[in-house]
Amino acid sequence: MQNGKLMPFAALVTATLFSIAAQAQNPLVSPESQRRAKELLRKMTVDEKVGQLNQSSGIVMPGFVDQKPDDMIAKGEVGSILWLNNTKEINRLQHIAVDQSRLHIPILFAFDVIHGWRTVFPVPLAMASSWDPSVEEAAQKEAGEDARAAGIRWTFTPMVDIARDSRWGRIMEGAGEDPYLGSAMARAQVYGFQGKSLGPDSELVSVKHFAGYGAAEGGRDYDSSYIPEVLMQNVYLKPFHAAEQAGAGNFMSAYMDLNDVPATGNRWLLTDVLRKDWGFQGFVVSDAFAVASLQVHGFAADPADAALKAINAGLNMDMASLTYTHNLAKLVAEGKVSEATLDKAVLPILAIKYQLGLFDHPYVDDTKTDAVLDRPEGLALERKIAARSMVLLRNENHTLPLTTSAKKIAVIGPLADSIHDIEGGWTVEGLFGGPAKSHPVTVLATLKSRYGANAEITFVPGPQLSRVFPSMLDALTGVKQVPPPTEAEKADWINKTKAATADADLVIAVMGEAASMSGEAASQASMALPGIQQEMLETAVASGKPVVLVLENGRPLDITWASEHVPAILEAWYPGTEGGNAVADVLFGDVNPGGKLPVSWARSVGQEPLYYNHNLTHEPEDRPTFTSRYWDVESKPLYVFGYGLSYTSFNFSNLRLSHDHIRASESTEVSVDVTNTGSVAGDAVAELYIHQRAGSASRPVRQLEGFERVTLKPGETQTVKFTLGKDELEFWSPQTKAWGVEPGAFDVWAGGDSKASLNTLLTVTQ
Ligand code: NOJ
Repeated sequence: MQNGKLMPFAALVTATLFSIAAQAQNPLVSPESQRRAKELLRKMTVDEKVGQLNQSSGIVMPGFVDQKPDDMIAKGEVGSILWLNNTKEINRLQHIAVDQSRLHIPILFAFDVIHGWRTVFPVPLAMASSWDPSVEEAAQKEAGEDARAAGIRWTFTPMVDIARDSRWGRIMEGAGEDPYLGSAMARAQVYGFQGKSLGPDSELVSVKHFAGYGAAEGGRDYDSSYIPEVLMQNVYLKPFHAAEQAGAGNFMSAYMDLNDVPATGNRWLLTDVLRKDWGFQGFVVSDAFAVASLQVHGFAADPADAALKAINAGLNMDMASLTYTHNLAKLVAEGKVSEATLDKAVLPILAIKYQLGLFDHPYVDDTKTDAVLDRPEGLALERKIAARSMVLLRNENHTLPLTTSAKKIAVIGPLADSIHDIEGGWTVEGLFGGPAKSHPVTVLATLKSRYGANAEITFVPGPQLSRVFPSMLDALTGVKQVPPPTEAEKADWINKTKAATADADLVIAVMGEAASMSGEAASQASMALPGIQQEMLETAVASGKPVVLVLENGRPLDITWASEHVPAILEAWYPGTEGGNAVADVLFGDVNPGGKLPVSWARSVGQEPLYYNHNLTHEPEDRPTFTSRYWDVESKPLYVFGYGLSYTSFNFSNLRLSHDHIRASESTEVSVDVTNTGSVAGDAVAELYIHQRAGSASRPVRQLEGFERVTLKPGETQTVKFTLGKDELEFWSPQTKAWGVEPGAFDVWAGGDSKASLNTLLTVTQ
């Protein structure tokens, strides 16, 4: 009943569903944390409330931050601190907050624990290549425990931005191009860090960068994104929603303009979608300095306007820019921001601090930190996960696995013995001059110990890899870019390569990109192997000796030549602290590779943006006439999404549906048999794709809607089952502006990559 009148049936159903959905969502914080937060809020002055919305930098950064935040903390002007990897300093600052500030509110310390602390796991793109969410969950659980032991209670992870363009350097921080795979990896990371619910043993996550950052124009980092709502809903927002449903307590707003409205001041994103549609109960932090940047974007007139636009859009916390600190109290005094709006911004921050147990245990026991960070189980897990994340791209004539029979081995390439690069970007312990205590194992070091004294290894690194334009992060990470080699130096390295490879039984090339070439502010216009790696590789192949190429990189690179001339190619990504050991585990067959590509691998940079789940044009590329393609290069990728080889072979058969006709409200079970047809045990990934043939909108040629990684003995067959129901079949229609399953015919494929040919048909009726 509404106002004494009967509600129309449709409205009643909607209202009931809405309240069920709202109730169904577990509360993020307990009633007790909520009660304590409300009680504390009542005691706070406006300035103290504004203080909780300020995340200060923990370090002095010339040009950005001039002094340590001690005085501000004592006055209650700091709610959170980022970028401190010194546990003693964390405790010192926490003491100021708890002992000296009027209300003794503890600080929430945050850092980018993206893929580990001292033990560094493979970069997220690599972990997504495992096609095994339990890999992400286990790694991030370990990373979270390490972070907490170091005093960090909040990590700016997971990055769930869909990236369809390999030029964008940050593709390495996420799970690649696909919303289904990306959602699975997003959920796993939330569970890994926070557990199934937020509590004293949780590491609070920050789901970033909300939203659309991966679609930066031209793949240039920070550039504007133009994404129609149909793509936001069906692609870009999906992993964010999955993370939110998994219980994520924090989101980070992105840097860029989304359809001309910067994400940090975008009310549609931060309020309409996140809070109203999804019911998010946590808080949103801006990316670093992004509130101040609202003015730089030409969106806010001045800092006060930036603060006003951000808080009214739904942004709780200002990361590092002090724009809230300098403007919010005045805006409240002038009545431009209501105190209710201020309270709404502060309350979830306090409630989460209670929920994390920070008020009861504000300090970390720094005598125990090293024991946690150095525990050997972490390294053992890292090695396993790194090997599980590698993708075998090519293996002609069973070049791999190797035996240790070679007596003379030439190891070439600038990454073969590079301690810094094998862990990739975001190795936080060593950032900002922190103590870098991790001991990465390089491929060269492992090969030396595997082959022992019986073999002779000649190492030709070639010139150090260097960016044309240095990175703003170089100073923070201690990287020194060097000038490119002279012609004489290049010729010298090529001669050394020729000599070493001519004399070898086996060549192992470890090549790719330096860690500083991938990640934030690391977009690139060329996908060529940087430096003289291509020439070194061609010299090695010309020797006629078997060549194995191990790639260390954060994005697909142009390996089209290698894909035709180098017999074995292993994609190791940036495999982390135990990377060299994990590479050797795969090269020597102790681990049979089972990873799959989470991205479509382009033949040349001109194909970007490239992704498998595009729509059909009226002239599909396999037509002979006016095909949708380039005249100078194929439109198809070099390696398709979901691709990866094994040392064994698999056959998919017997694809069947429990019901081949269902109603839109029902679901069907899909089964497929996977058989190991080779002679060694190995992992297959069963991938399920669908295509809706017609509807209120054109739908992608294929979309992933299920996957499972299984281990099979030689000759063994397993049946893998998937469900196709509402979650898999529905989409957001630009015509109805709503989610729904539309009646019609759906193609269903299952197999080992996105070109799987085994198919059947599902009919959905009203
Ligand atoms: C900027 C990056 O965009 C974001 O990913 C990171 O979490 C923050 N800086 C804090 O380091």
